Amino acid sequence: MRVLGIESSCDETGIAIYDSEKGLLAHDLYSQIAMHAEYGGVVPELASRDHIRKTLPLIDNVLRQAQLTRSDIDAVAYTAGPGLVGALLVGAAIGRSFAWALDIPALAINHMEGHLLSPLLEDSPPAFPFVSLLVSGGHTLLIDVQGIGEYKLLGESIDDAVGEAFDKTAKMLGLDYPGGPILAALAEQGIADTYLFPRPMTNRPGLDFSFSGLKTFAMNTWRDSEQTDQDRANVALAFQTAAVETLAIKCKRALKETGHKTLVVAGGVSANTALRARLNAMPHLEVHYPRPIFCSDNGAMIAFAGAMRQSAMVKQEHASFSVRPRWPLDELSSPDA
Ligand code: KG4
Ligand code: ZN
Repeated sequence: MRVLGIESSCDETGIAIYDSEKGLLAHDLYSQIAMHAEYGGVVPELASRDHIRKTLPLIDNVLRQAQLTRSDIDAVAYTAGPGLVGALLVGAAIGRSFAWALDIPALAINHMEGHLLSPLLEDSPPAFPFVSLLVSGGHTLLIDVQGIGEYKLLGESIDDAVGEAFDKTAKMLGLDYPGGPILAALAEQGIADTYLFPRPMTNRPGLDFSFSGLKTFAMNTWRDSEQTDQDRANVALAFQTAAVETLAIKCKRALKETGHKTLVVAGGVSANTALRARLNAMPHLEVHYPRPIFCSDNGAMIAFAGAMRQSAMVKQEHASFSVRPRWPLDELSSPDA
């Protein structure tokens, strides 16, 4: 089965074709970062309009790359949430119309399930069960994963997501948007142990996270410093070290609680090399990540999630559809249920 995947939940238009026998055939991505950078963050209305411009040309690109035509596609998977409602509606409308016109099934995919499953696109994919750490701009989640659609929430952020904390700290340090990867690059110039930042919520039981205090701590440290370039890099490093250490402590705790021996990390922040180094150093643990390009939003993870859920794909009886700007992962069920 060849599945066309459409991702349009935020500021990336991602399109891909996944073949359940041959694997990923083609993918293409258009990032709106340059457009939003001017405003210091994502402008939802501009995002929706740009998805409208880019989705169809990108679909044509991936078909060309895979040397296929529209009639070779067997099903369409599109992101139906969580995300920006206008942006989601673009992918949903195009995806459903495409499926309707070709008389093939369509499937509404949860964006976080796309991230969660993205490491399974790699060679030597992880076997179930495992603990999943999902770290993106909107979410910080620890999930006990027993199989496709069998997700038990172990912990989540009670305030800012870790990616959001990276972005806000970066902005406060005067770095460009999106700040996460820029702050990570700057941290490499930092001198270790200049500042000691807290590891929020690690000295009490539980698997929830809180990153907004860390961001405030970074802001106060920066304000009280002489604000030299070296100070900026030192604050960036201290923030990153504390965030990474906090994530690692909670992962260790989640692995102990579930008894699982495999950790799967995905979402934009999983590209962070300090996080990868820290988790890879944990003994007796197998850790899996997506390749760097599939850490952030992409169409491949949506096409793949669609292929994994192919038994849940249904032909549409009518042309209506809806999206879910908020859609918790633990409300999903397994495709065969
Ligand atoms: O998964 P993603 O592309 O979009 C959402 O679904 O939110 O994640 C984007 C987030 C942003 O907050 C971005 O700053 C962060 O991931 N990010 C990073 C790195 N690369 C992306 N944060 C820290 N270090 C990185 N190398
Ligand atoms: Zn995402």
